[in-house]
Amino acid sequence: MLSHRVPHDHEPNAWARFLEQCRTADMRLLDLSETNPTRVGLGGAGPEELAALARAEGARYEPDARGSRAAREAVAGYYADRGEAVAPDHIVLTASTSESYTHLFRLLADPGGVFLVPSPSYPLFEPLAALEGVNLRPYRLAYDGAWHLDRHSLEEAFAGDVRGVIVVQPNHPTGSCLDADERALLETLCERHGAAIVADEVFGDFPRPGRVAPLPSLVGGARVPTFVLSGLSKVCGMPQMKLGWIVTGGPGTAREEALHGLEWIADLFLSVSTPVQVALPALLAARGAFQRRVRERLAANLARLDGLIARRPELGVLAAEGGWGAVLRVPRQRSEEEWALGLLARGVVVHPGHFYDIAGEGYLVLSLIPEPDLFAAAIARIEEFAAEV
Ligand SMILES: Cc1ncc(COP(=O)(O)O)c(C=O)c1O
Repeated sequence: MLSHRVPHDHEPNAWARFLEQCRTADMRLLDLSETNPTRVGLGGAGPEELAALARAEGARYEPDARGSRAAREAVAGYYADRGEAVAPDHIVLTASTSESYTHLFRLLADPGGVFLVPSPSYPLFEPLAALEGVNLRPYRLAYDGAWHLDRHSLEEAFAGDVRGVIVVQPNHPTGSCLDADERALLETLCERHGAAIVADEVFGDFPRPGRVAPLPSLVGGARVPTFVLSGLSKVCGMPQMKLGWIVTGGPGTAREEALHGLEWIADLFLSVSTPVQVALPALLAARGAFQRRVRERLAANLARLDGLIARRPELGVLAAEGGWGAVLRVPRQRSEEEWALGLLARGVVVHPGHFYDIAGEGYLVLSLIPEPDLFAAAIARIEEFAAEV
């Protein structure tokens, strides 16, 4: 009865089944898979921001498919503060980054069209693509002390009609970005094959502590149609507000054509509520305090991880440039599944690396935003479990 777009097998994997059992048994869990800022005491919306949602203008309905002018100007102001000139007319508001992806899949490809996606990366692309009837093909990121684009795998992935290449920077969970040469190669290949770039930069405000240079951005990309995604979830710690955006760049005619198409798609849904658009300038203005709290937390939790690595050199943390996650290398005497299940039995929730397609057994993925006391307690249990190998 149902389409092939939705999954027919709802069986959870062994780890998810065990996690459910632990939760049902009311076990106190130290959750290092938590990336929701509102659940770790970091949510960015205080009384002032909530009051902005109740402004009288929010009672009127005068929809603009791209989002209200004032809201788009607020997003342009956010980029201006980062030193990037973006015209409000080149911005389209959405209800979330996930929705931005689905709009772009529909805009750029017919059913069966191909998008290239980084691997390892965030596991949401697969179901979003399945829902829109488009196909994904991975290109590899490889680690040799730092993450690099595997150029050969990107070139190979360009076989046939590729509609777009997804780039996540900093990527989740690797925390990696493209360097200038990698970006140039990507743009050359996209130009040659008529493909667009979709750059997810939701973590772009969160460099690793101590990094001086700002994280790279594809805003202002000029050679090929480029769509940069971000939103309130990570910029302000307000995933519950349901507001994301797409910054459209690239050669003028293609950009205008894309904007018309995006506007047409957005007009069918008008999915961004008026109150959140009215409140957007106030919500974005609150980001400084939120981002400072996150940076302090990233620094505190990374210092804990460094302490663990110093005491147990058989463990390691992969080098990263930014983001909210860390990849922990663990000895291969246990499989990733055994590590993750064993830690769950000790009350610690971490994701095995294969959830993100990290190649080779021996990686765990940790969120760096949990509350520092909880993070420290979880690290102590990881240390005990590592000592049992
Ligand atoms: C890389 C990446 N992109 C997008 C999102 C989702 O953002 P949104 O809440 O705006 O859909 C996440 C959420 O964790 C993410 O990790």
